[in-house]
Formats: sequence, C-alpha cells, structure tokens
Amino acid sequence: MAATLFAVACSAPKSEIDRKVDDLLAQMTLHEKVGQMNQLSGGAWLADQAAKGEVGSILNCVDPAEINAVQKAAVEQSRLGIPILVSRDVIHGFRTIFPIPLGLAATFDPEIVEEGARIAAVEATASGVRWTFSPMLDVARDPRWGRVAEGSGEDPYLDVQMGVAMVKGYQGEDLSDPTAMAACIKHFVGYGAAEGGRDYNSTMISERSLRNTYFPAFKATAEAGAATLMTSFNEIDGIPSTGNKWLLKDILRDEWGWEGMVVTDWNSAGEMIAHGFSRDLKHTTEQAVNAGVDMDMMSYGFIQYIEELVKEGKISESEIDRAVRNILKLKFELGLFENPYVDETLSAKVDYAPEHLAAAKQTAIESAILLQNKGNVLPLDKAKTILVTGPLADAPHDQLGTWAFDGQKEHTVTPLAALRKEYNVIWEPGLAYSRDRNKSSFAKVRAAASRADAAVVFVGEEAILSGEAHSLSNLNLQGAQSELIAEVAKAGKPVVVVVIAGRPLTIERDLANCDAMLYSFHPGTMGGPALADLIKGKAVPSGKTPMTFLRDAGQAPFYYNHNNSGRPCNGTETLLEDIPAEAGQTSLGCTSYYLDTGYGPHLPFGYGLSYTTFEYGAPAVAEPVVGKDDVVKASVELKNTGKYEATEVVQLYVRDLVGSVVRPVKELKGFRRVTLAPGESANVEFELPVSDLAFWNIDMEYVVEPGDFQLWIAGDSASGAPVGFIVR
Ligand code: GLC
Repeated sequence: MAATLFAVACSAPKSEIDRKVDDLLAQMTLHEKVGQMNQLSGGAWLADQAAKGEVGSILNCVDPAEINAVQKAAVEQSRLGIPILVSRDVIHGFRTIFPIPLGLAATFDPEIVEEGARIAAVEATASGVRWTFSPMLDVARDPRWGRVAEGSGEDPYLDVQMGVAMVKGYQGEDLSDPTAMAACIKHFVGYGAAEGGRDYNSTMISERSLRNTYFPAFKATAEAGAATLMTSFNEIDGIPSTGNKWLLKDILRDEWGWEGMVVTDWNSAGEMIAHGFSRDLKHTTEQAVNAGVDMDMMSYGFIQYIEELVKEGKISESEIDRAVRNILKLKFELGLFENPYVDETLSAKVDYAPEHLAAAKQTAIESAILLQNKGNVLPLDKAKTILVTGPLADAPHDQLGTWAFDGQKEHTVTPLAALRKEYNVIWEPGLAYSRDRNKSSFAKVRAAASRADAAVVFVGEEAILSGEAHSLSNLNLQGAQSELIAEVAKAGKPVVVVVIAGRPLTIERDLANCDAMLYSFHPGTMGGPALADLIKGKAVPSGKTPMTFLRDAGQAPFYYNHNNSGRPCNGTETLLEDIPAEAGQTSLGCTSYYLDTGYGPHLPFGYGLSYTTFEYGAPAVAEPVVGKDDVVKASVELKNTGKYEATEVVQLYVRDLVGSVVRPVKELKGFRRVTLAPGESANVEFELPVSDLAFWNIDMEYVVEPGDFQLWIAGDSASGAPVGFIVR
C-alpha cells in the first residue's frame, strides 16, 4: 500500500503554486535567485536593495507604512516584482502580550495556547508581519539557561502539544488568509542542551537522544504543516546545525519528507567561523547552502558569495533552485503576490481588542502555579486591607517578559493596579527592581504589614534577566528580595508571595518564610487582573510546573524523565550533616545523590496545587495484556474533596521497565484538564495507543518492544502508585 501511495504522490499533477514557482524560477537570473535567499533586518532604508531584487525577506520592521514602502520598491521597481516576506519574533503575543511560552506550557491547555497564537497572528498581520520565528521547541532541562523562558520546558510530549497548538494558531486553516502568519519551528536542534546552561554553548547529544527527546516536537510540528524551520546556533558533537547536512537534508527532507523553508538563525552561518567549522564567510556560505539552508539571516554571506561559489562549481545551481523554490512557494502560499501590501488602518482596529485582552487574562490565570498554601491562606477573600510590596508588583515593562518587543507597557495592567480594585491597598515597593539591594525602606514595609490584614509580596526577575544570552549560575531571588519576604514575615500577618519570573528559580528558602506562593512565569499584559482574581478567589489556580524546580542550581541539569542509573537514590542516603568526623571511606551501598542537597529536586515536573483538594483513586487498565496494535485503556477515579470548583490537570505517565536500551523512569504520555465541583467525582479515562510507546532502540529502529510497563495517572510526576500492564 505504501509503495502505491508513494507512486501516486510522484505522479500527482503539479499544484498550481508549483507551476507558478517553476515559471517564475525560469525567468530569474542567478543574482535574483540569490537575492531571495537574503534576509536583512531593517525597514524603509532597505528599499533600494529591495528595488534591485536583492532582499527576499526583512525582519524587525513592524511599521505598516515602512513595510509598504519596502514592499512597493520590491513589487513595483524590481525586474520581476517578487514581494518581500516580512518577519518578526512574535513569541507570545504581538501587541497583546500573553504569558511567556514557559507560562503557556504551565497551562497544560493546548486549546488556549492555540487561541493565543491565533490572536497574535491577527495583531501581527495587521501590522504587515506574515512570518513569525515561533514556536521555539527546544527541550530544556537546565533553568540556568535564560531561554527556558521561550520554550515548553523539559518534556517532549508537552513540547509537542504546545508546538502543534502554536503552529495551528499562527497559520490557521489557510496560509493565504491575510491573518495567517507562517510559523517557524526553532531552533533545530538541541539548543537547549547547551553545556552548563550557558547560551550558545556546545552540546553533546547522541543520535538516539536526538531522536527520542529533541526531534519529536520538530517532527510533529513539521507534520502539522509548519511552514518554516530555523537552524540553531549550537554545534552537536562538533557540527554546527547550520552546516549539518545530516540534520537539514537526511532527516528533515529525506526521512521526514518535510518541504518547508529553512532559515538560519541570526548570523548563525557566519558564526561557523568562530566555531572553527569554516575558514571564512565564503566557506561558511558554501557549507550552509550545501547542507540545506534556504535563507540567510544577517550573515551577508549568501548575497556576497553564492554567485562566485556557483561559478567555481562549489555550489550547484540546482541547490540554489531548491532553496529559491522553497522561498517562492511560501510567498505564493501566503498570497503575497496577489496581496503584497498591508492596510495601514487595520492595526489600530485589532490591537488590544477586548477579546484579545480577555484571552490573555484567562491564559495568565491558567498559567499560574500554586506552590504552597499553608492554612489555606489563599484566597484572601476576607481581607479588607492588604499590603502590596515587592519590585514586581508594579513593573509594567518587566511583567511582559522576554521577547515582547511589540507589547507596549502602557497597556500592561499590573498587580498593584488590579489589586487596588479589590482591596484597600497599602503600597510600599520595598525594592525598586529585582536586583535592588537597598533595604533602607524595609522597616517602613514591615510597619505597613502590621497595619494590614495580609501582605502580598511580588518578587521575581526583571524581564531582561531571562531570555537569550542571559544565563545565570545562581538561581536564588536576586538582590534583597528574599530578605524583603523575611522582613514582611516578621510582622506576623499572613504572607502571600507571588513570583513573576522567566524560569524556575530556587525558592525553597523563600517558601519557608511565607504562607502561600503563586508562581507566574512573566504573565504578560493582563497578568495583574489574572493574579488579582486568583488572590481574591475569583479564579482558582490550575497551573502545573513545566520544568522541575531545583533546590540548588548545582543540581542542574535535573529532569523527571531521567534514566535510572545503576544506583538510583533510595532515600536512605547519608547527608552532609550526618557524616561523622573521620568517617571511613566506602562506596558500597552508595547511590546517585548530592551530600548537601540530597537527591530529589525541590518540586517535581507537573506539580501544582489548587484551592480545593483532589483525591485520586488507583489507576486501572482495561486489559492487563495488550498487543502492539492495541490501545491501552486506562482510567482513574478523581474526586474534588475540597470546597472550590476547580480544574485539575490529570497526567498519564508510563515506564518501560526493560528495554534494549535503558528507558526513562517515567514519560508523560497524556494529560487532561478536568473541572469538578466540590464533592463531584469523575472517572477520567485515557486511551493510549501502544504505538505511542515506541522509541529508538539499540538497533536505531523506532519500535515498541514487548515487555512489562507501569502506568500512573496522577496530579504530578512524583505522585501515585503505578498499575502494571504487558505488551506482548
Ligand atoms: C535571535 C534568536 C532567534 C530569533 C532571531 C531573530 O538571535 O536566536 O530565536 O528568532 O535571532 O530575532
């Protein structure tokens, strides 16, 4: 059957767009072809180069009039009138800013994430942007890396769900729809595995680990129709991704059959010189084009050297035609030839539309994670006067998070502004910004706390402390923020801490100094109203940790879906403080842990509390023995045993006990948001195709291996007892 299908595909008539591409390509000079492969950052000042057909795409211009000016030069002055593709990093909203992607992942709600991406596309395309460099799919297991903010955390399955949702939201049903924005799956591949969590650093990832952990979201989003892909800055085992033919041709094109367009990251081609992979810019150009890159972002190498390299026979013109075909096909698919210009009155009508702000607020509500709630201090539904303090309480710029270029802080509603509508607020900043060490106003803050019914302390990270190039070796709260929390606690009133940050910080000691803690990954424009509703009890937290929270940065990298090692920690380990003086050296019975922090993290992946309580029954499987073509039917009884209607993210994990290669101790294979009223129960069911248990095995084959499995259905990756089943 497969052979027949393939034969049909080969003989399928060329699409209308393919014919248009062929016709146009046949008219183009080599210089004009190379011009399409050249992406430059800028606006109106690129009009001259556009008029010469030397610019295929621009980035970082979002002024409709400027965009139209450059477009006019390309369409009406260049010989063939090929329109420019306008791009921008629309990462978590355009004008209406949603929670950063790590916060979107914390919702475990692909539908709301898709809705947010659709809204981002509507706003961005109204300004003339038709291509975004999102979703970022880099699996990240090390919170020292500042770019964990931009991804979906440590789990490949959650990464797939979030990535596919964003691609669908950005691109909609039809790329030629004027509100459709081409997605760009990035950074291919393994960028999040940078050694030491230091951005741009080397990675050492085996092919099997690439295939089992880092490829899945790229493959799934490619199959979901992602129009473009961006290469990553890092090298894998010495080969920079931008020059890696195995990745860009053998995997992407030959194995996956993906036909989209490949763009480099910003000068990632040129950076192969610094890597020591290229002699000079001409050499790097030869390597990148021959490896399968279609478009060059800002190395200037393609526009300078490709014609020379073709004449020297180092690049074939068929490689150039391949690249230009991918670029032209996208431009035809986007309808740019028919509609190259943007309506300059449109953005004012769509930006910050009430329904956009409402969606951003709901997403921010769902992204917040309740980490602690001693004595059910939250919600503060009886307090009349509250102290609001901390450097993130009224930080309209920082609340937007990293990669929020086009969000305007004037539209941000801060927690202070929102809480003033709910309570009599005593406002004492305490610190001016997250790195502030000036404690001179602490006494005033403590005095204010003693006059209030409760205190809410907003701490975290300024936006600039996360994101690209902003790795940290220490993940504690910066400045005197921890001291501020401790100072407020001295007043003896209920203390609620809200962390607004771009990554999981090490906040275990801060938890000890407060009653309740809400964790909000830079929540965006409507973060204030969202957090105020949660604090007041108008909404109930449902977020779950998309990354493991560490006790100390020294534990990184740490992730729930790790292999077991031959000496897994068993909880009986001797800790630093228990070791007697002159203790004898022995390694017998020792396991994999830290003397000072023990083994476990601070908080596991998938963790998050609610204002209510949920009780899980034991998981059950319909059939204890299944075949490879079967579906595992698993279920659990879930009961809301508290007094608030609330939503629980019910998570399904499996473990393959023995494999031809060692397998992770747990893998997320499903999740469901379940809303229950107080006292209500539900039988939550999952249908898990056995084929979803496949992995790349010892023979580098993607197979399900028969054997014993365990299955959990729980509220996080560390809870619950498993039920066994067998794949025969
Ligand atoms: C940056 C980032 C990439 C972004 C690009 C364009 O360096 O690595 O994610 O899309 O340049 O801004």
